[in-house]
Amino acid sequence: MSDKPRVLVTRKFPDAVEVRLARNFDAKFNPDDTAYDAETLVELSQDCDALLVCSTDKFTAGIIERLPGSLRVISTFSVGYEHIDVAAASARNITVTNTPGVLDAATADLTMMLMLGAARRASEGEAMIRQGRWEAWSPTGMLGTDISGKRLGIFGMGGVGRAVAARAHGFGMEIHYHNRNRLAPAQENGAQYHETPETLLPISQVLSLHAPLTPQTRHFLTKERIALLPEKAIVINAARGDLVIDEDLIEALKSGKLAAAGLDVYPGEPNIHPEYSHLQNTFLLPHMGTSTVETRDAMGFCALDNLDAVFAGRTPPNAIRADFT
Ligand code: DGY
Repeated sequence: MSDKPRVLVTRKFPDAVEVRLARNFDAKFNPDDTAYDAETLVELSQDCDALLVCSTDKFTAGIIERLPGSLRVISTFSVGYEHIDVAAASARNITVTNTPGVLDAATADLTMMLMLGAARRASEGEAMIRQGRWEAWSPTGMLGTDISGKRLGIFGMGGVGRAVAARAHGFGMEIHYHNRNRLAPAQENGAQYHETPETLLPISQVLSLHAPLTPQTRHFLTKERIALLPEKAIVINAARGDLVIDEDLIEALKSGKLAAAGLDVYPGEPNIHPEYSHLQNTFLLPHMGTSTVETRDAMGFCALDNLDAVFAGRTPPNAIRADFT
């Protein structure tokens, strides 16, 4: 029997990450990348010291209750950790860690793609080419809207929000934000702080959501809040689907209140609300904000650094405090 810590690896991870896992741990891999159901997660965890998981694995209090006494840490390959009941884990002395920071750039890049894709009607344009429907250039053909010169409202100014602000600044946007706490002036970098979403929304010609999903932010974007946005605003979500209420967003896209939406995340992924793909004014991607080789490797290494720290008796760099959830 190996004297290395036993780790259940719930999905197929990038090769470089699995090589390091195999070297430093007694790893139980999932080469087929089958998403395990709750029963399987509990069963496969039984002889383990650690779990390397991702946001498709749900760890409710009921499941955490059934994890073995040997388990010391759940390391999630994601910055979001709404899929893990951190308080329940903490009550059982199981450390939970995540991977902040390393994915800010990739997610912010994709956010700019969502903004441009929605504002410039990229889905419609691409479909026209692919379906052989493009007949000729015309002075009034495929008119979208500029993002440059527009006011961008960022809801949630953590690492990703700030990386979006830096990029949007380069596009000539005026940056406004709401965050639980106001940033220091150096981090604000000229962005204007709003103490409440209710003052941020009316000036947000483009609204971009970057808050974590918590009980406080779930269903943040209701029809009442959409009504506060300027006419023909654009909504962007590269954070978590459950920040919005699908039906309310769809209604505003249909009525013309909103010009467009650029979405990378959805409630109930991958079974997204069917109306999104019937609307012309949506630019839709399949939760791929962090999907670059460099970033997925970095997320994996960060998740492994967290495991290494636990088994070396150190506090892991990205331990999540139960009172922060
Ligand atoms: C994250 O890191 O939270 C990404 O959304 C992938 O789950």
